[in-house]
Amino acid sequence: MSYVSGTEASRNRGLFVSIEGIEGSGKTTQYEMLVPALIQRGLDVVGTCEPGGTALGGEIRKILLNPDFKEMDGLTEALLYAADRCQHVHEVILPALRRGQTVVSDRYIDSSLAYQGTARQIGLEGVKNLNEWATNDLYPDITFLLDMPASLALGRLTAAPDRIESEPASFHEKVREAFIMLSRVYPGRFVILDGTKDKDEIHREIMGRLAKMI
Ligand code: TYD
Repeated sequence: MSYVSGTEASRNRGLFVSIEGIEGSGKTTQYEMLVPALIQRGLDVVGTCEPGGTALGGEIRKILLNPDFKEMDGLTEALLYAADRCQHVHEVILPALRRGQTVVSDRYIDSSLAYQGTARQIGLEGVKNLNEWATNDLYPDITFLLDMPASLALGRLTAAPDRIESEPASFHEKVREAFIMLSRVYPGRFVILDGTKDKDEIHREIMGRLAKMI
């Protein structure tokens, strides 16, 4: 694993896009539409996700989502997500960006700021510092937030709920509010999209926004 000095923000590299939102907001659907659309435009794209974007991260993901670990401490949870992200950044994301590739990630740092830092009440500042350490200060260039009420989004889930999905609707509503709060903290990076709109319309909005950057 290679570490570099200085912040990644200042380096010449490919475009880094993240997609965020609560469960059931349609973020993975948009990710699955976006990656092939960008490839069709001639871009060299690496599509990836968190947690579990690496083989090692896949094992961390199993622990994180296992509903049997009801005793998991909130800070343990934050550290495990950060560990998954550290491996993901250094093994997959940074090497791709340095090769000039476009990286699209289904979830990234803002998920930890919203779920662990805010909804889990671990503390935004601590989770931010932990994740900046884990990622060598690598933030996305642009973050698409699929926003919709938790009651509506959770109603779309069909599979058996994992450990995080099993949280009450009030927890997911806090996550939603935290994402909106983050979009105000980082107005230049966040694009808020109405997750209740038709998926093709949302996709067109995302492509329209990216067309200005690619
Ligand atoms: P994900 O695989 O994206 O699930 P889904 O597609 O159902 O949204 O993410 C798994 C869970 O992990 C999801 O409930 C959100 C949670 N999560 C965090 O709490 N913090 C994080 O930093 C990340 C990346 C995900």
